[in-house]
Amino acid sequence: MYTFGKINSFEGKLNLKQIVNEVDFEEMEEALNICDLSVLAKKYKTWQRHMPRVKPYYAVKCNDDALIVKELADLGTGFDCASKNEIKLALEAGASPEHIIFANPCKPASHLQYAKEKQVMTSTVDTEYEIYKIFKHFPESNLVIRFRCEAKAAQCPLGDKFGCNAEADAAALMLLAKSLNLSVTGTSFHVGSGCSDFPAYNRAIATAKNLFKFGEMIGFDMKILDIGGGFPGADDDKFATIADIVNESLQKYFPEDNIEIIAEPGRFFVASAYTLICKIHAKRDVRTDKKTDLKMYYVNDGVYGSFNCVLYDHQEVTAQHFLEENESLKKFKTLIWGPTCDALDKITENAYLPNLTCGDLIGFPNMGAYTVPIASPFNGFLVPKTLYFKAIDEII
Ligand SMILES: Cc1ncc(COP(=O)(O)O)c(C=O)c1O
Repeated sequence: MYTFGKINSFEGKLNLKQIVNEVDFEEMEEALNICDLSVLAKKYKTWQRHMPRVKPYYAVKCNDDALIVKELADLGTGFDCASKNEIKLALEAGASPEHIIFANPCKPASHLQYAKEKQVMTSTVDTEYEIYKIFKHFPESNLVIRFRCEAKAAQCPLGDKFGCNAEADAAALMLLAKSLNLSVTGTSFHVGSGCSDFPAYNRAIATAKNLFKFGEMIGFDMKILDIGGGFPGADDDKFATIADIVNESLQKYFPEDNIEIIAEPGRFFVASAYTLICKIHAKRDVRTDKKTDLKMYYVNDGVYGSFNCVLYDHQEVTAQHFLEENESLKKFKTLIWGPTCDALDKITENAYLPNLTCGDLIGFPNMGAYTVPIASPFNGFLVPKTLYFKAIDEII
């Protein structure tokens, strides 16, 4: 009925329950991703509506599925690539080299040579060593100086690893580039992935303005402002709030329209495009005083697979059952384990579900970000398969 390896069409709204009823889970060992590619076009429209001045360069690392990258290339996003293979993927999807930024500030030299071969001209840098490396391997590059400006709260802070000190180091890096006859064309920052301190964008854009002034003063043609990632995946109201802050800051600090403003959203585009369906293969009741305190289910994907997002990305996942909805269905505090022998392999202990049994399915929405590319088959458990869907009016 549904085909793997090709895009299945649907009319109206994707009916998850119907798909779950029609797929033969009995024969399937691995969990199943249901990917709605139509979500990407909706997210792109949302982005354009709220931040028309900012061109999104999708961060491929977030989900490097070739169909996702192709869909976004067709929609017209640019790409933030962190490696040679990500650049290759974006080019194969049809992206043009001018719409790719090599946004890994610590690049292996061979990857830089590949960028040169493919004429991906813009790269981020944040140390003198990277500037010397670019001088040696790709001196025609356009350099974007990444500075540190972190949110006070984020799911995944990045500032300990990347970003020069804007006050102490950025000017020195620009002067070094100048002395080597390299070209600096802009600045970038990342407030942290899953940012919940939205004014961080305002602080960072204000800092970028100062760096632009310095760059221009020493003769660089400063024309790229890259505002990074950090945008929410499934909460478009929060996204609208961030967009208001960004737009206001841009209006204040970069009112001219001769500056290209880009961003590197990952989670924003893909998180809500995926629902992961897992199957229970084992169960345990934890009883005290003759009553069940806790139900435990063991399912066919875990933190070494798609739920690595629980460990690495600090995501809190939501579990849904597929039993016929019935108000009187008693619910239990539920802990869901992954399939491996490791006690670290815990998906959630905060679910509240009816009494399920082996063979029953549990769905997890918003599983598209930082899941698929990181999953491994540890302990011999297979990583999930994916069924792709797209609304019929978008296929024609
Ligand atoms: C350089 C860079 N850009 C963009 C992103 C994407 O961030 P997000 O998924 O928060 O939008 C990341 C994530 O780690 C990153 O390291």
